[in-house]
Amino acid sequence: MGMLRSRVMMVSSEVSPWAKSGGLADVLGALPKALADLGYHVAVVVPRYMNAADSAATRVIDRMPVPLGDRQVEVGVWEMSGASGVGSVSLYFVENAALYGPQDRAGLYGDAEGDYPDNHIRFAVLARAALEISRHLFHADVFHCHDWQASLLPVFLRETLAGDPEFSAARTLLTIHNLGYQGLFDAPLLSETGLGDYLFNPSQLEFWGRINFLKAGIVFSDAINTVSRKYAEEIQTEEYGFGLDGLLRERSRVLSGILNGVDYTNWNPATDAHLPARFSPENLEGKRECKRALLNEMGLPERSIDQPLLGIVSRFATQKGFDLIGEIAPRIFERDVCLVALGNGELRYETLFAGLQADFPDKVTVKLGFSDPLAHRIEAGSDIFLMPSQYEPCGLNQIYSLKYGTVPVVRATGGLDDTIDESTGFKFADYNGDALLAAVRDACQAWENHNQWEARMVRGMRRDFSWAPSAQAYSELYERL
Ligand code: ADP
Ligand code: GLC
Repeated sequence: MGMLRSRVMMVSSEVSPWAKSGGLADVLGALPKALADLGYHVAVVVPRYMNAADSAATRVIDRMPVPLGDRQVEVGVWEMSGASGVGSVSLYFVENAALYGPQDRAGLYGDAEGDYPDNHIRFAVLARAALEISRHLFHADVFHCHDWQASLLPVFLRETLAGDPEFSAARTLLTIHNLGYQGLFDAPLLSETGLGDYLFNPSQLEFWGRINFLKAGIVFSDAINTVSRKYAEEIQTEEYGFGLDGLLRERSRVLSGILNGVDYTNWNPATDAHLPARFSPENLEGKRECKRALLNEMGLPERSIDQPLLGIVSRFATQKGFDLIGEIAPRIFERDVCLVALGNGELRYETLFAGLQADFPDKVTVKLGFSDPLAHRIEAGSDIFLMPSQYEPCGLNQIYSLKYGTVPVVRATGGLDDTIDESTGFKFADYNGDALLAAVRDACQAWENHNQWEARMVRGMRRDFSWAPSAQAYSELYERL
């Protein structure tokens, strides 16, 4: 405080609660506020897609030209700030009906047919528009770019706008939330992003004959971070590097890991309005009520209240390790244990979970879809939360689980390894079904001992993963830049 803080502009494809497919949205919904609490002026720039519930926003620019090479796209800019529940953070929505919807765009990145064929243009425009928003509406000292969708910004800044006095002092930070999504496009599409062909070479934008947005961000940003310390190390190895580990090792001097925090105003069982009853470390009674109501909501037998209840809330993607659950399901469900799962995504996992429900109808219920209220009720009503991820940059659900007294069973990778220890959860190391099964059995066995289990729950509930220390770490990174 008192000190003159930099002005930070975050650029992202998601922000909670307006546009969310996973944890990226949660981070963008919370980190800017935590930085504002430290005295920063923060802006967030996202596309205005779908029928985002953004009625509190006002259109501040009707037609802002966004140059893409020798072409030009026009966007509208909507602003929401101050009293609209975002603290002293300014939110800018970039509007272009053809690119972002609301019509003709079922999802954020694609529909039933797959990824949208114009994603390279959609997110080139987002990045280039953010720079123009900085010019006209919110001068930024630091551009904090998130994932591949914002990764062309540092390239536009250093190449297209080199020499532009408006940006001569600007610095860039790229946060990698997931190295598994890089934004890969066919080479001939480069000209449609407005960037020059000369950048298409292996030390800049080319990745095995294709354009790689995330690689561009890694090459052109002043600093790079990921969302846990462990993941920052893992991505420099061949096993977790998705082909970019060599480049990341080259850039290791500017690469760090900063653990995500949690927004406890949104995820707190003592105040959570989505729950049928509330509870806290001092009074756990409501948790049993949440379990009873969840079993009922999911159509599982009432008598199951006296068996351990496993919970899952997730995107259904290979990353999340559900192949292991398919592998060991018969051996899990030969015991008295139930599972409730909420998720959507890849068809093969929707099929896998639907199959489990068909095979074990009085033990497994799966809801396919996206429901924030149900996600809260599963966190609250389950006894054990499963995250057997193949890799996990940070992972938020295991941290929510701790807060809700739901003991996590996790694979020791990335942020799961950094946030869970033997006293609060169960970890396994090798990515195979037997290792997961052993951890699930240990957890179920430990659950039998009521007093020890409660002590474990309470230890987890008292852990503090609020944003303040992480925001402080970002602050230090900005100031170093
Ligand atoms: P990732 O970002 O890889 O999906 P995280 O654990 O960081 O994983 O964050 C996932 C976030 O998305 C959590 O807030 C979780 O509750 C939410 N989420 C994921 N799938 C669903 C779903 N089907 N319905 C509701 N919320 C979901
Ligand atoms: C990504 C990761 C997840 C992380 C989230 C927010 O989606 O898969 O582990 O928690 O981003 O950083």
